[in-house]
Amino acid sequence: MTENVPPFERRVHLIMGKGGVGRTTVAVSMAQAAALRGKRVLLTEVGDPEATKSAIGAFFGREELRVEPEHVAPGIDACRLWAEKGQESFARTVLPTGPLVKTALRSRAMRRLMSAAPAFHELGIFYHLLSLLELCGKDGQEQYSAVIVDMPATGHALALAELPKITLQVISRGPLPNAMRRGQAYINNPAVTAAWVVTLPEQLPVTESLELLEGLKRTGVPAAGVILNRHLDNYFSKAEIEVIEGALQDHPVRGTTSFQRIQTADRSSTRLRESTDLPIVQLDNIVNPINGDPSPALANALNQVAGSLR
Ligand SMILES: Nc1ncnc2c1ncn2[C@@H]1O[C@H](COP(=O)(O)OP(=O)(O)OP(=O)(O)O)[C@@H](O)[C@H]1O
Ligand SMILES: [Mg+2]
Repeated sequence: MTENVPPFERRVHLIMGKGGVGRTTVAVSMAQAAALRGKRVLLTEVGDPEATKSAIGAFFGREELRVEPEHVAPGIDACRLWAEKGQESFARTVLPTGPLVKTALRSRAMRRLMSAAPAFHELGIFYHLLSLLELCGKDGQEQYSAVIVDMPATGHALALAELPKITLQVISRGPLPNAMRRGQAYINNPAVTAAWVVTLPEQLPVTESLELLEGLKRTGVPAAGVILNRHLDNYFSKAEIEVIEGALQDHPVRGTTSFQRIQTADRSSTRLRESTDLPIVQLDNIVNPINGDPSPALANALNQVAGSLR
Protein backbone atom coordinates (compact mmCIF):
# COMPACT_ATOMS: atom_id res chain seq x y z
CA MET A 1 0.00 0.00 0.00
CA THR A 2 1.57 3.23 -1.18
CA GLU A 3 -0.46 5.31 1.29
CA ASN A 4 1.37 3.79 4.24
CA VAL A 5 4.76 5.38 3.81
CA PRO A 6 5.22 7.36 7.06
CA PRO A 7 5.36 11.07 6.24
CA PHE A 8 8.91 11.67 7.45
CA GLU A 9 10.16 8.72 5.40
CA ARG A 10 8.90 10.17 2.13
CA ARG A 11 11.37 11.64 -0.30
CA VAL A 12 9.86 15.03 -1.12
CA HIS A 13 8.78 17.52 1.53
CA LEU A 14 6.95 20.68 0.49
CA ILE A 15 6.94 23.23 3.29
CA MET A 16 3.96 25.54 2.88
CA GLY A 17 2.20 28.25 4.83
CA LYS A 18 1.46 31.92 5.00
CA GLY A 19 4.21 34.54 5.18
CA GLY A 20 6.22 34.73 8.39
CA VAL A 21 4.96 31.55 10.10
CA GLY A 22 8.39 29.91 10.00
CA ARG A 23 8.44 28.03 6.67
CA THR A 24 12.15 28.62 6.13
CA THR A 25 13.06 27.75 9.72
CA VAL A 26 11.00 24.55 9.52
CA ALA A 27 12.46 23.64 6.10
CA VAL A 28 16.02 24.06 7.44
CA SER A 29 15.16 22.13 10.62
CA MET A 30 13.63 19.34 8.58
CA ALA A 31 16.75 19.17 6.41
CA GLN A 32 18.93 18.94 9.51
CA ALA A 33 16.63 16.30 10.99
CA ALA A 34 16.77 14.23 7.79
CA ALA A 35 20.57 14.54 7.61
CA LEU A 36 20.79 13.32 11.22
CA ARG A 37 18.76 10.28 10.14
CA GLY A 38 21.36 9.60 7.46
CA LYS A 39 19.54 10.94 4.39
CA ARG A 40 21.29 12.64 1.50
CA VAL A 41 19.44 15.92 1.65
CA LEU A 42 18.75 18.61 -0.91
CA LEU A 43 17.28 21.79 0.55
CA THR A 44 15.83 24.31 -1.89
CA GLU A 45 13.99 27.60 -1.99
CA VAL A 46 12.42 29.54 -4.82
CA GLY A 47 14.20 32.70 -5.89
CA ASP A 48 16.27 34.54 -8.42
CA PRO A 49 19.89 34.11 -7.29
CA GLU A 50 20.88 37.35 -9.00
CA ALA A 51 18.14 39.50 -7.54
CA THR A 52 17.25 38.29 -4.06
CA LYS A 53 19.13 37.21 -0.95
CA SER A 54 18.86 33.61 0.10
CA ALA A 55 16.89 33.01 3.30
CA ILE A 56 18.17 29.43 3.50
CA GLY A 57 21.75 30.55 2.83
CA ALA A 58 21.62 32.77 5.92
CA PHE A 59 21.23 29.66 8.11
CA PHE A 60 24.51 28.34 6.75
CA GLY A 61 26.45 31.59 6.91
CA ARG A 62 26.17 32.56 3.27
CA GLU A 63 24.40 35.42 1.54
CA GLU A 64 23.96 33.70 -1.77
CA LEU A 65 22.85 30.31 -2.93
CA ARG A 66 23.34 29.21 -6.50
CA VAL A 67 21.00 27.33 -8.81
CA GLU A 68 23.34 24.34 -8.77
CA PRO A 69 23.31 22.35 -5.52
CA GLU A 70 26.26 23.08 -3.25
CA HIS A 71 27.36 21.50 -0.01
CA VAL A 72 26.27 23.65 2.96
CA ALA A 73 26.39 21.31 5.97
CA PRO A 74 27.08 17.64 6.73
CA GLY A 75 24.64 15.64 4.63
CA ILE A 76 22.98 18.74 3.18
CA ASP A 77 23.27 20.35 -0.25
CA ALA A 78 21.26 23.45 -1.00
CA CYS A 79 20.27 25.45 -4.06
CA ARG A 80 17.69 27.84 -5.40
CA LEU A 81 14.84 26.95 -7.68
CA TRP A 82 14.89 29.56 -10.37
CA ALA A 83 12.16 29.93 -12.97
CA GLU A 84 14.59 31.06 -15.65
CA LYS A 85 16.84 28.06 -15.14
CA GLY A 86 13.89 25.67 -15.49
CA GLN A 87 12.49 27.49 -18.52
CA GLU A 88 15.86 27.27 -20.19
CA SER A 89 16.26 23.54 -19.50
CA PHE A 90 12.74 22.91 -20.69
CA ALA A 91 13.29 24.93 -23.88
CA ARG A 92 16.36 22.80 -24.54
CA THR A 93 14.23 19.68 -24.55
CA VAL A 94 11.95 21.09 -27.25
CA LEU A 95 14.16 23.43 -29.27
CA PRO A 96 17.25 22.62 -31.32
CA THR A 97 20.34 22.76 -29.11
CA GLY A 98 23.08 25.32 -29.29
CA PRO A 99 24.19 28.61 -27.74
CA LEU A 100 21.47 30.42 -29.68
CA VAL A 101 18.82 28.99 -27.40
CA LYS A 102 20.31 30.69 -24.37
CA THR A 103 20.66 34.00 -26.18
CA ALA A 104 17.12 33.81 -27.51
CA LEU A 105 15.71 32.94 -24.08
CA ARG A 106 17.55 35.81 -22.45
CA SER A 107 16.43 38.38 -25.03
CA ARG A 108 14.10 41.03 -23.71
CA ALA A 109 11.34 40.33 -26.20
CA MET A 110 11.39 36.66 -25.39
CA ARG A 111 11.37 37.31 -21.65
CA ARG A 112 8.39 39.63 -22.03
CA LEU A 113 6.53 37.00 -24.03
CA MET A 114 7.33 34.35 -21.46
CA SER A 115 6.33 36.36 -18.43
CA ALA A 116 3.01 37.12 -20.12
CA ALA A 117 2.27 33.45 -20.70
CA PRO A 118 0.10 32.13 -17.87
CA ALA A 119 1.97 29.91 -15.45
CA PHE A 120 5.25 30.20 -17.32
CA HIS A 121 6.94 31.25 -14.10
CA GLU A 122 5.58 28.17 -12.28
CA LEU A 123 6.54 25.99 -15.22
CA GLY A 124 10.16 27.11 -14.90
CA ILE A 125 10.29 26.44 -11.15
CA PHE A 126 8.51 23.14 -11.53
CA TYR A 127 10.80 21.96 -14.27
CA HIS A 128 13.87 22.98 -12.31
CA LEU A 129 12.61 20.99 -9.31
CA LEU A 130 11.80 18.03 -11.54
CA SER A 131 15.32 17.99 -12.96
CA LEU A 132 16.75 17.98 -9.41
CA LEU A 133 14.45 15.14 -8.37
CA GLU A 134 15.60 13.16 -11.36
CA LEU A 135 19.32 13.66 -10.68
CA CYS A 136 21.13 10.36 -10.35
CA GLY A 137 24.55 9.53 -8.95
CA LYS A 138 27.17 7.39 -10.70
CA ASP A 139 25.61 4.27 -9.21
CA GLY A 140 22.33 5.09 -10.97
CA GLN A 141 20.66 5.79 -7.63
CA GLU A 142 18.77 8.98 -6.92
CA GLN A 143 21.30 11.59 -5.86
CA TYR A 144 19.14 12.89 -3.03
CA SER A 145 17.10 10.68 -0.76
CA ALA A 146 15.31 13.66 0.80
CA VAL A 147 14.35 16.81 -1.08
CA ILE A 148 12.98 19.62 1.05
CA VAL A 149 11.39 22.63 -0.60
CA ASP A 150 10.84 25.91 1.22
CA MET A 151 7.78 26.80 -0.84
CA PRO A 152 6.64 30.35 -1.60
CA ALA A 153 3.77 31.80 0.47
CA THR A 154 0.27 30.34 0.10
CA GLY A 155 -1.12 31.52 -3.27
CA HIS A 156 2.10 30.97 -5.22
CA ALA A 157 2.64 27.61 -3.58
CA LEU A 158 -0.81 26.42 -4.61
CA ALA A 159 -0.27 27.63 -8.18
CA LEU A 160 2.93 25.60 -8.29
CA ALA A 161 1.32 22.52 -6.76
CA GLU A 162 -1.62 22.71 -9.14
CA LEU A 163 0.44 23.26 -12.29
CA PRO A 164 0.62 19.65 -13.58
CA LYS A 165 -3.06 18.99 -13.04
CA ILE A 166 -4.14 22.19 -14.79
CA THR A 167 -1.68 21.76 -17.64
CA LEU A 168 -2.86 18.21 -18.28
CA GLN A 169 -6.45 19.40 -18.43
CA VAL A 170 -5.68 21.54 -21.45
CA ILE A 171 -2.90 19.69 -23.24
CA SER A 172 -2.26 15.98 -23.32
CA ARG A 173 0.50 15.28 -25.84
CA GLY A 174 4.02 16.56 -26.28
CA PRO A 175 7.02 17.37 -24.10
CA LEU A 176 5.12 19.67 -21.71
CA PRO A 177 2.48 17.15 -20.59
CA ASN A 178 5.16 14.48 -20.48
CA ALA A 179 7.15 16.59 -18.02
CA MET A 180 3.99 17.26 -16.02
CA ARG A 181 3.25 13.53 -15.79
CA ARG A 182 6.79 12.85 -14.61
CA GLY A 183 6.30 15.58 -12.01
CA GLN A 184 2.97 14.14 -10.90
CA ALA A 185 4.59 10.78 -10.27
CA TYR A 186 6.47 12.57 -7.51
CA ILE A 187 4.30 15.32 -6.15
CA ASN A 188 0.90 13.63 -6.37
CA ASN A 189 2.19 10.39 -4.93
CA PRO A 190 1.63 9.89 -1.18
CA ALA A 191 4.41 7.31 -1.10
CA VAL A 192 6.85 9.98 -2.25
CA THR A 193 5.63 13.42 -1.27
CA ALA A 194 4.53 15.05 1.97
CA ALA A 195 3.16 18.59 1.98
CA TRP A 196 3.42 20.22 5.40
CA VAL A 197 1.37 23.27 6.33
CA VAL A 198 3.24 25.42 8.82
CA THR A 199 1.19 27.65 11.07
CA LEU A 200 1.31 29.59 14.33
CA PRO A 201 -0.97 29.21 17.35
CA GLU A 202 -2.83 32.41 16.49
CA GLN A 203 -6.27 33.04 15.10
CA LEU A 204 -5.52 34.30 11.60
CA PRO A 205 -2.68 31.88 10.78
CA VAL A 206 -4.87 28.94 11.87
CA THR A 207 -7.72 30.14 9.66
CA GLU A 208 -5.35 30.53 6.72
CA SER A 209 -3.78 27.14 7.30
CA LEU A 210 -7.21 25.50 7.16
CA GLU A 211 -7.88 27.33 3.88
CA LEU A 212 -4.55 26.17 2.56
CA LEU A 213 -5.42 22.56 3.42
CA GLU A 214 -8.65 22.98 1.46
CA GLY A 215 -6.71 24.42 -1.47
CA LEU A 216 -4.28 21.52 -1.35
CA LYS A 217 -7.10 19.01 -1.83
CA ARG A 218 -7.72 20.60 -5.23
CA THR A 219 -4.12 20.08 -6.32
CA GLY A 220 -3.82 16.36 -5.59
CA VAL A 221 -0.64 17.00 -3.57
CA PRO A 222 -0.86 14.83 -0.43
CA ALA A 223 -1.01 16.84 2.79
CA ALA A 224 0.97 14.99 5.48
CA GLY A 225 0.36 17.19 8.46
CA VAL A 226 0.25 20.58 10.06
CA ILE A 227 3.32 21.95 11.79
CA LEU A 228 2.16 24.09 14.65
CA ASN A 229 5.21 26.27 15.10
CA ARG A 230 6.13 28.41 18.11
CA HIS A 231 3.83 26.50 20.39
CA LEU A 232 3.35 27.93 23.89
CA ASP A 233 2.55 25.67 26.82
CA ASN A 234 -0.54 26.63 28.76
CA TYR A 235 0.59 25.89 32.29
CA PHE A 236 -2.47 27.47 33.93
CA SER A 237 -5.40 25.41 35.17
CA LYS A 238 -8.94 26.35 34.18
CA ALA A 239 -9.64 27.70 37.65
CA GLU A 240 -6.44 29.75 37.61
CA ILE A 241 -7.30 31.20 34.20
CA GLU A 242 -10.68 32.41 35.46
CA VAL A 243 -9.15 34.07 38.50
CA ILE A 244 -6.35 35.71 36.50
CA GLU A 245 -8.68 36.91 33.73
CA GLY A 246 -10.99 38.48 36.31
CA ALA A 247 -8.10 40.19 38.07
CA LEU A 248 -6.52 41.44 34.84
CA GLN A 249 -9.75 43.13 33.75
CA ASP A 250 -9.49 45.47 36.70
CA HIS A 251 -5.73 45.72 37.04
CA PRO A 252 -3.67 45.12 33.92
CA VAL A 253 -0.16 44.21 35.08
CA ARG A 254 3.17 43.22 33.61
CA GLY A 255 2.76 39.83 32.00
CA THR A 256 -0.78 40.51 30.78
CA THR A 257 0.28 40.26 27.12
CA SER A 258 2.16 36.99 27.68
CA PHE A 259 -0.77 35.53 29.56
CA GLN A 260 -3.19 36.54 26.80
CA ARG A 261 -0.85 35.19 24.13
CA ILE A 262 -0.78 31.83 25.89
CA GLN A 263 -4.58 31.75 26.09
CA THR A 264 -4.93 32.70 22.41
CA ALA A 265 -2.43 29.98 21.51
CA ASP A 266 -4.45 27.46 23.50
CA ARG A 267 -7.72 28.41 21.81
CA SER A 268 -6.13 28.49 18.33
CA SER A 269 -4.51 25.07 18.78
CA THR A 270 -7.79 23.61 20.00
CA ARG A 271 -9.60 24.99 16.96
CA LEU A 272 -6.93 23.56 14.67
CA ARG A 273 -7.18 20.12 16.29
CA GLU A 274 -10.96 20.17 15.97
CA SER A 275 -10.83 21.17 12.32
CA THR A 276 -8.45 18.63 10.82
CA ASP A 277 -7.79 14.92 11.11
CA LEU A 278 -4.21 15.32 9.93
CA PRO A 279 -1.34 14.82 12.37
CA ILE A 280 -0.30 18.03 14.11
CA VAL A 281 3.38 18.34 14.86
CA GLN A 282 3.97 20.80 17.64
CA LEU A 283 7.24 22.75 17.66
CA ASP A 284 8.13 24.89 20.66
CA ASN A 285 8.79 28.56 20.55
CA ILE A 286 12.54 28.55 21.14
CA VAL A 287 13.37 31.50 23.33
CA ASN A 288 16.92 32.86 23.03
CA PRO A 289 18.23 30.21 20.67
CA ILE A 290 22.00 29.80 20.35
CA ASN A 291 23.19 32.24 17.61
CA GLY A 292 19.54 33.26 17.15
CA ASP A 293 18.98 30.10 15.13
CA PRO A 294 16.25 27.84 16.53
CA SER A 295 16.68 25.18 13.83
CA PRO A 296 19.02 22.72 15.68
CA ALA A 297 16.55 22.48 18.58
CA LEU A 298 13.64 22.12 16.17
CA ALA A 299 15.50 19.45 14.17
CA ASN A 300 15.82 17.36 17.33
CA ALA A 301 12.15 17.85 18.10
CA LEU A 302 11.22 16.81 14.55
CA ASN A 303 13.30 13.66 14.83
CA GLN A 304 11.53 12.77 18.02
CA VAL A 305 8.14 12.90 16.33
CA ALA A 306 9.41 11.35 13.07
CA GLY A 307 9.37 7.87 14.54
CA SER A 308 5.93 8.24 16.07
CA LEU A 309 4.13 9.32 12.89
CA ARG A 310 3.18 6.12 11.11
N1 LIG B 1 10.04 27.70 16.67
C1 LIG B 1 10.61 28.90 16.67
N2 LIG B 1 11.13 29.43 17.80
C2 LIG B 1 11.67 30.66 17.80
N3 LIG B 1 11.76 31.45 16.73
C3 LIG B 1 11.26 30.98 15.56
C4 LIG B 1 10.68 29.69 15.46
N4 LIG B 1 10.28 29.50 14.17
C5 LIG B 1 10.59 30.62 13.51
N5 LIG B 1 11.19 31.51 14.33
C6 LIG B 1 11.64 32.87 13.97
O1 LIG B 1 10.56 33.53 13.31
C7 LIG B 1 11.03 34.37 12.26
C8 LIG B 1 10.31 34.03 10.94
O2 LIG B 1 10.69 32.70 10.57
P1 LIG B 1 10.95 32.30 9.04
O3 LIG B 1 11.83 33.28 8.37
O4 LIG B 1 11.35 30.88 9.06
O5 LIG B 1 9.46 32.45 8.48
P2 LIG B 1 8.97 32.31 6.95
O6 LIG B 1 7.61 31.73 7.02
O7 LIG B 1 9.98 31.60 6.17
O8 LIG B 1 8.90 33.84 6.54
P3 LIG B 1 8.81 34.46 5.05
O9 LIG B 1 7.36 34.50 4.72
O10 LIG B 1 9.41 35.83 5.24
O11 LIG B 1 9.60 33.59 4.13
C9 LIG B 1 12.53 34.17 12.21
O12 LIG B 1 13.14 35.21 12.95
C10 LIG B 1 12.77 32.85 12.95
O13 LIG B 1 14.03 32.78 13.61
MG1 LIG C 1 10.95 32.12 4.37
